[in-house]
Amino acid sequence: TAATTAPAAASATAVVGSADYRDSGLAFPADFVFGSATASYQIEGAATEDGRGPSIWDTFSHTPGKIWNGDTGDVADDHYHRLETDLDLMKNLGLESYRFSIAWPRIQATGTGPANPAGLDFYTRLVDGLVARGIKPIATLYHWDLPQALEDQGGWANRETAYAFAEYARIMGEALGDKIVTWTTLNEPWCSAYLGYGSGAHAPGRMNGADALAAVHHLNLAHGLAVTALKKVVTNDPAFSITLNLHVIRGDGETGPEAVRQIDGLANRVFLGPLLHGSYPEDVFEDTADVTDWAFVHDGDLELIHQPLDLLGVNYYSTTLVRIWDGVTPRANNDGHKDMGGSPWPGADRIEFLAQPGPYTEMGWNIEPAGLEELLMSLHAEFPTLPLMVTENGAAFADEVTTSVDESGATVSAVHDLERIDYLQRHFTAAHRALSRGVDLRGYQVWSLMDNFEWGYGYSKRFGIVYIDFDTQERILKDSAKWYSTLIATRSIPP
Ligand code: NOJ
Repeated sequence: TAATTAPAAASATAVVGSADYRDSGLAFPADFVFGSATASYQIEGAATEDGRGPSIWDTFSHTPGKIWNGDTGDVADDHYHRLETDLDLMKNLGLESYRFSIAWPRIQATGTGPANPAGLDFYTRLVDGLVARGIKPIATLYHWDLPQALEDQGGWANRETAYAFAEYARIMGEALGDKIVTWTTLNEPWCSAYLGYGSGAHAPGRMNGADALAAVHHLNLAHGLAVTALKKVVTNDPAFSITLNLHVIRGDGETGPEAVRQIDGLANRVFLGPLLHGSYPEDVFEDTADVTDWAFVHDGDLELIHQPLDLLGVNYYSTTLVRIWDGVTPRANNDGHKDMGGSPWPGADRIEFLAQPGPYTEMGWNIEPAGLEELLMSLHAEFPTLPLMVTENGAAFADEVTTSVDESGATVSAVHDLERIDYLQRHFTAAHRALSRGVDLRGYQVWSLMDNFEWGYGYSKRFGIVYIDFDTQERILKDSAKWYSTLIATRSIPP
């Protein structure tokens, strides 16, 4: 177990930046689940096939100026047509789980009405294919591809979307509810609400703080309603979960703590509060009083949202450094989320996001494995009985394909992505330290199985452990994929 393999360096005091985190030989518990993650719009392609309706990401990506290079998810990794070979790839890597998402508009083209049999068939084949290969299916119901027809009626700023989502969850529960091991209702509702409706950097590209906060609440409500609906129809005993991109926020200088409080409220507590404590944080109401009166929170909503959770999914990439702007000196604006729109933070217009020490990934995000350990430790301290899973962690780097000729004269392609291996090694070490300090961490899903459509950045940022040649759709195992295979096979971190 974790306790018997505790690294000597683990300490009870707060961990900050200085620790090296690059360790090897650390063993993971026998039931720890190693897998990899993707999302429907980022990999599937086949955007108009077999009755799939348009999603907000189809509309957004086809709007000039929204996505780097005008990229869209029309073809993406063509996974929809390459399902069987991609499943074989997962099996060959030795994945124990696969975290995928279901495209709502494949199931209900306009977000309401009867299920589309072709859509159900695709995900049934996917899940059956996983089960046949001994890979645990972790299904996410919503990874951002809202049916456009629902957006036309107000999207997540409209309460009705939460009810429509519950009906879609029921349909999926009936279709797959004997095979899914972990159901995740929402992926990173922070992004759906604040980037979609606040900063406009993500679909649907709206910029209105009140709508963003209404979206936060309706996403929370959708989660609660969906868990309730799923529980009524599933026939196995799955874990019900949600995946959050909680922010690890550090404060700079004297105003740091106050800035941390505000951003922690909007980024973290506005989700954790209703989901796990059954209440919204009062200070967030106060901080956003000029933006909205929160009248969209109806009596009884908090009971609906506050469903027992079996697992909390944690997506972690980097940290955030904040302070309050003095109103005089030129304003720092290094909020990675801001570079394609306005501010995603309603009511927090005096907060400065500061540059942090490197190293950085290709996204410009600082690499800070200590942040992962810190996040897991603080969640464990606040919710001691709640199992956790890293549902995403990984890194974009500028990968290069090299070719060589083997003994038989065949050309062999390779990607020597040493930086990604280094990133993963440090973050697996951080996760192991959290385990050995008593965190109930159940698994780790590397983002991503393969290079894909990185939202506003299109295909310019590669997160995969498998390289995709977007001209030929050839899949090339990066060295990180081989490293990860070794980790899974040995259940310990390779050098
Ligand atoms: C979070 C999102 O869930 C995923 O879709 C995205 O590609 C990665 N982080 C990397 O930005």
